Amino acid sequence: MDTDRLLRELNDFLRIPSISTSPSHDADCRAAAEWVAAELRRLGCDDVQFLASETHPVVWGVGPDVPGAPTLLVYGHYDVQPPDPLDEWTTPPFEPTVRGGKLFARGAADDKGQIFCLLKAIETNGTRTRPRINFRFLIEGEEEYGSRVLFELLRHEPERTRADAVLIADMAYIAPHWPAVYTTLRGLCYAEITVRTAKSDLHSGEFGGAAPNAHEELARLLGRLKTPDGKIHVPGLYAAVRRPSKRERATWKRLPFKEGEFLRHRVRAKALTGLKSYSVLERLWALPTFEIHGITGGFTGDGAKTVIPAEATAKVSLRLVPDQKLKVVERQLAAAVKRLAPKHVQTSVRFLHGADPATVAVTHPAFHLLDQAFKDVVGRGTVPARAGGSIPVVPALGKGGAPVILTGIGLPDDRLHAPNEKLDLKQLWDGIRVFRRFYELLGARA
Ligand code: BES
Ligand code: MN
Ligand code: MN
Repeated sequence: MDTDRLLRELNDFLRIPSISTSPSHDADCRAAAEWVAAELRRLGCDDVQFLASETHPVVWGVGPDVPGAPTLLVYGHYDVQPPDPLDEWTTPPFEPTVRGGKLFARGAADDKGQIFCLLKAIETNGTRTRPRINFRFLIEGEEEYGSRVLFELLRHEPERTRADAVLIADMAYIAPHWPAVYTTLRGLCYAEITVRTAKSDLHSGEFGGAAPNAHEELARLLGRLKTPDGKIHVPGLYAAVRRPSKRERATWKRLPFKEGEFLRHRVRAKALTGLKSYSVLERLWALPTFEIHGITGGFTGDGAKTVIPAEATAKVSLRLVPDQKLKVVERQLAAAVKRLAPKHVQTSVRFLHGADPATVAVTHPAFHLLDQAFKDVVGRGTVPARAGGSIPVVPALGKGGAPVILTGIGLPDDRLHAPNEKLDLKQLWDGIRVFRRFYELLGARA
């Protein structure tokens, strides 16, 4: 493998700050889409299009046609999460840098580096021929904020998902040297909760002691929504939660996962939290969450200002698990906020984006081929696991009946969405080989 050239090409992709949530990066998202489109053309796709191009375009690629060969739909996303806090990066997020065999950059693992593996695995050279597969590509630029456009697109054009299998590499091994295939993804319900307590801010000396304070009310409200024992007090929330079978939970005990190690090396905090009567894996994979992402309002500038804020807003989200439904949870959260706020406090809940949880049965023959490909290349097959994260379009991609293969070549310590995101170069080169082997095995089945 010409690793120097490949690394140069990946770095070109990683240098594009395609942050989909901030409008100031719209042009960068388009540039990343162009990078993907050019790559698809180079790989021989005879039909490359930008779909829904009024936002960050969905890059669609087809072909070339291989009569009688299986059809594989490859999904990925070229957008990335904002890189802040910037001063915690050892080298800047959009200046990819190799240190100690690891490539540091925003998007290195999520998901540009992984798309790169899926694409480069198709490349031919003097001796290697193109896999006998009818490829379809759906590479979007809105995954990191809810995939609204692709979702709508697939609702109107479900035939785009017609394939023998869908392949997604946007996840990680569950431990070094332990490739995985995922059976569930959590869903997501992202909301802004705003409380208003007065017409305007008030002098805290003139009014303090007698006037309501929006931040205080918001803090109390959030404190009621989730109590220190980890329980979420949204009526009805747990009703649809399907507990994993005893058998599945027993298999988790054999996974290379140690709660103490997870606390010390991954979380790096003083203690784990959540519902103590459930194992950590069950809390991460099979129970809903409620997280506060940030709180704004009042005075947060330099220095000091004595004011009673009239309004405060919290960005929050719930992760959802099978068989919860986004639409139901939205209603439940809105009702809970109304119920838990005192009468003198005006509340509103605005939903920003979300996703239903996804469940995949990993029994289709295509999963055996992936297992075999990992065995052949890295010496160990895939273990079934669950994922705590979300990929909003997964349920829609599976609607046509094709098995959705959720896997990845990242490692658990890649720091997705956080400062110093990285991808180990060994994972990158192995990843290309694994997918190349998978394509070869799949193509041989025609
Ligand atoms: N690649 C992740 C999803 C993921 C991460 C799955 C780790 C399994 C393990 C994806 O890019 C992601 O971050 N999704 C968002 C979706 C949301 C913004 C709608 C997420 O999970 O927060
Ligand atoms: Mn991703
Ligand atoms: Mn992500």
